[in-house]
Amino acid sequence: MDEHNSGRVTKDGIRIYQEADFAGMHKAGALAAQILDRVAPLVYPGQSTGEIDAAITRMVDEAGATSATIGYKGYQHASCISVNHVVCHGIPGDKRLKDGDILNVDVTVIVDGWFGDTSRMYVAGKLSRKSERLIQVTHDALFEGISAVRPGNTFGDIGHAIQTFVEANRMAVVRDFCGHGLGRVFHSPPNVLHYGRPGTGPELEEGMFFTIEPMVNLGRAETKVLADDWTAVTRDKSLSAQFEHSIGVTATGCEIFTLSPAGKFHPTWD
Ligand code: MF3
Ligand code: CO
Ligand code: CO
Repeated sequence: MDEHNSGRVTKDGIRIYQEADFAGMHKAGALAAQILDRVAPLVYPGQSTGEIDAAITRMVDEAGATSATIGYKGYQHASCISVNHVVCHGIPGDKRLKDGDILNVDVTVIVDGWFGDTSRMYVAGKLSRKSERLIQVTHDALFEGISAVRPGNTFGDIGHAIQTFVEANRMAVVRDFCGHGLGRVFHSPPNVLHYGRPGTGPELEEGMFFTIEPMVNLGRAETKVLADDWTAVTRDKSLSAQFEHSIGVTATGCEIFTLSPAGKFHPTWD
């Protein structure tokens, strides 16, 4: 027993949540997803990423929820907005979107103590063919990973499913950032790698809650973090995309907590 939960923790430090906890995660995940649904009309050429973030801050407040990222390790925004060759942790600001820019918006909210963490891709104006392909492959890679989630499989099976799919499409999986356990906390064990070998890593058990959030580059996998200590970019300046869901392992597969209430998670050109 501890202050939060009567569940057990595995030898790898992964908390096993109870059946009743799924409802809490569902509520937090649904709010995060609904906020991302409402971001779509705010993305257009000439818009600044700071304005999008300000709108997200208002949406979190109006819902009576809390942003998990404001104040997290000194981060000051309700979202990360990662444009073009920014891989993740892009800081919203005054920079205005240009026609054809692609961007990931990543939102994490806390509802009744439960964390909902999700991100998806948007486009300002007209989507190029190569960006469309990158976004589609990244989206589908996430779902290849989700398809490998069931009790008895391992975290290596998830990473392997993502990596083989991405590489079959001649793109590169970022290795410098990973998914994570979450629940009553933002980041907890395990590290959910988006590459790997079948049958390796901890075994999946019913009641594990974690994110899968593959980042895929059109060029090489290598990244670097800028002097602001947050913004991660591709070293070769190639375009990068990411999608993220928060999920819970069930007896037969998984529940996706961050599904779009409006069915809008799919790439926005649908
Ligand atoms: N939401 C991000 C994730 O997927 C974490 C962002 S931390 C921040 O884990 F401080 F950069 F916002
Ligand atoms: Co995450
Ligand atoms: Co996130």
